[in-house]
Formats: sequence, C-alpha cells, structure tokens
Amino acid sequence: MATAEQIKSLIKSHFSDDVERFTTTALQLAAHEANQGHGALAHEIRDIVDKAKAERGRGVLLKFPQELHGLVLSETPQTPIASLVLAESLRKRIQRIVHEYRQQYRLKTHGLSNRRKILLIGPPGTGKTMTARVLAHELRTPLYTIQVDKLVTKFMGETAAKLRQIFDLIQRAQGVYLFEEFDAIGGERSLDNDVGEMRRVLNSFLQFIETDTSDSLIIATTNSPRLLDKALYRRFDDVLYYSLPDDSDKIRLMENIAGSFLSQQIEWKKVIKEAAGLSHSEIDLACRDAIKQAILSDLQTVDASLLAQMLKERLAPHQTLSEH
Ligand SMILES: Nc1ncnc2c1ncn2[C@@H]1O[C@H](COP(=O)(O)OP(=O)(O)OP(=O)(O)O)[C@@H](O)[C@H]1O
Ligand SMILES: [Mg+2]
Repeated sequence: MATAEQIKSLIKSHFSDDVERFTTTALQLAAHEANQGHGALAHEIRDIVDKAKAERGRGVLLKFPQELHGLVLSETPQTPIASLVLAESLRKRIQRIVHEYRQQYRLKTHGLSNRRKILLIGPPGTGKTMTARVLAHELRTPLYTIQVDKLVTKFMGETAAKLRQIFDLIQRAQGVYLFEEFDAIGGERSLDNDVGEMRRVLNSFLQFIETDTSDSLIIATTNSPRLLDKALYRRFDDVLYYSLPDDSDKIRLMENIAGSFLSQQIEWKKVIKEAAGLSHSEIDLACRDAIKQAILSDLQTVDASLLAQMLKERLAPHQTLSEH
C-alpha cells in the first residue's frame, strides 16, 4: 500500500495543478510497490504515467504560478486543420503560420523570425477560437487561454501587473496563448473615461507585445475591430478577417459534420435557403440537432427537410431580434 505521505502528496499536487510533483509521487509510489514485491502493480502505475505524459503533448503542461490560477486555462486540443471550413485564402494564411513556425530555424539563420503575433477579427461563431485550437494541435503545443474579461474586471487595478506575469509565462513556457475578447484591453485609448487605468493597461500590452521575443504564438480575437486602438495593428504580424460562411462553405460544413448520416441524395438548394445569415457555429449546432433527431426517431438518416427544419430553428432568434 502507498504510504500516507504519498497519498497526501498526490492530493496536494492535484489541487495545486503541480503536474511535476504529481508525476514524481506517482513514480515513487510505483517504486514503493515494486519494493513490496508488487511488480505487476508497479508496472501498471508506470504505464499509466507514461501514457498520460505522451497524451499531454510531450509532457509539458506547465506549472502555473499561483497568481495566474483561474486566469489562464490550459488544454491540449486535438483539432485538425481539415475540420476548419474557411475561404481558401484564409486557410492558406493559417497554413503559412504553421509552415513558418516549423521552419523558424531556417528563417533565423537569415535574421528573420516566423510570424507568431496574430489578430483574428470577425463575427461570433466563425472559427476564431477554433483556429487557435487548430494551431496548437498543428504545432503540437499546449493552448493557454487568458481570461481577458476576468483580467480587467476581477483584477482591476493590478491588470498591468498580471499582464507582465502572463508575458513572463509566454517567454518561459512555449505554447499558443489566446487572448479572447481582446477589445476589453485593446480598446481605443480615447474612449477611456476611467481614470487612466485602461490606458495604462493598453500601453503595457503594447509594450509587452512589442518586446516579446519568445517562441510562443500570441493570438488575440475580437468581434469589434472598430473598438481596437489603431496603434495595435502594427504590433501584429498578421491580421486575419473571418466572415460568415458562403453557400459552398455551408455545404462543406454540413457534409463534414453529418457525414455518414446524410441521405444519399440531398437537395442542397432547399437546405441552404434556410441557412441565410447563420454562422458556422449555428450550422454546426443545427447539424448535430438533426443527427440527434435522426437517431432518436429511428430514421437513422438526415435528409434535406430535417436539416432545413433544424436550421430554421437556429434562425428564429435572429428574426425575433430583428423584429424588436
Ligand atoms: N470555420 C469553421 N469551420 C468549422 N467549424 C466551425 C467554424 N467556425 C465555427 N465552427 C464550429 O463552431 C464552434 C464555435 O466556433 P468558435 O468558438 O471558433 O467561434 P468564434 O469565432 O471564436 O466565436 P466568438 O467570436 O463568439 O468567440 C467551433 O467549435 C466549431 O464546432
Ligand atoms: Mg471565440
């Protein structure tokens, strides 16, 4: 049996997100079991640790400083680039980010650096967050999401100090760092009516991002480009614009999601008619609704009228909103 100390250490390291300590304790536990003659159990424990390490993307899920708990979320996404439905020109620009990252050493020998500070602008549900996931997956690094709204509300007054800690982390732990709803800190300085706090925060951000020379990718997303301070744009290596899907994007999206559930002959015209103005995300949800309905009604296939019906439901809130 594990010692009381080992059990306590496991529990403590779990709750403080101390992956290194957790792993070390688990391995000590395996060694202890081996000494007790429980070879099979020791082997099983080591096996679990090895598999978890491999899973966690190269065993690098990092130890956050205590001050950033709740402010930065980490994950290792498994979202392939093929699942992103985008205009070809946009896809190429995303592929270029991946390509330059993979070839960064070749670029460095010529004094150049790979593009890694990226601003994503576009309406809700068009794939900005998903792009950050895809990039993390393609680059085989963790994704760290900074809760920008918390940063400016909960930590008002110490936002600039928190930002410094976040940029320290960006330097120290290589990964994809995502600043969602970035306009909360990137807002126009002239709109500031708040005793200069937001101006200071934005100035700090501008300075941090400008001087950052880490190997990490920094991604900021926003729905409201008009709110962004003009000084920001030139700090980014790339500004990518997302838009609602066109008809062929819509079909591709539905084919990707509904896959083998789709009936043989789909009259796409009839379906597309119901998807006017819907985002990728809403079409994605409508498709999943249709699959669920097909499964539960024992039909097992999704046809044009079922898709049309589910899309209509997703469109309803838009119509209600525009009537009021
Ligand atoms: N371009 C896309 N291709 C494929 N699926 C998409 C795309 N855009 C959105 N989706 C689907 O919708 C979900 C939500 O999209 P996502 O979170 O990326 O939107 P967003 O642009 O970040 O929106 P917001 O501005 O509200 O944060 C995704 O997880 C995915 O399932
Ligand atoms: Mg998003």
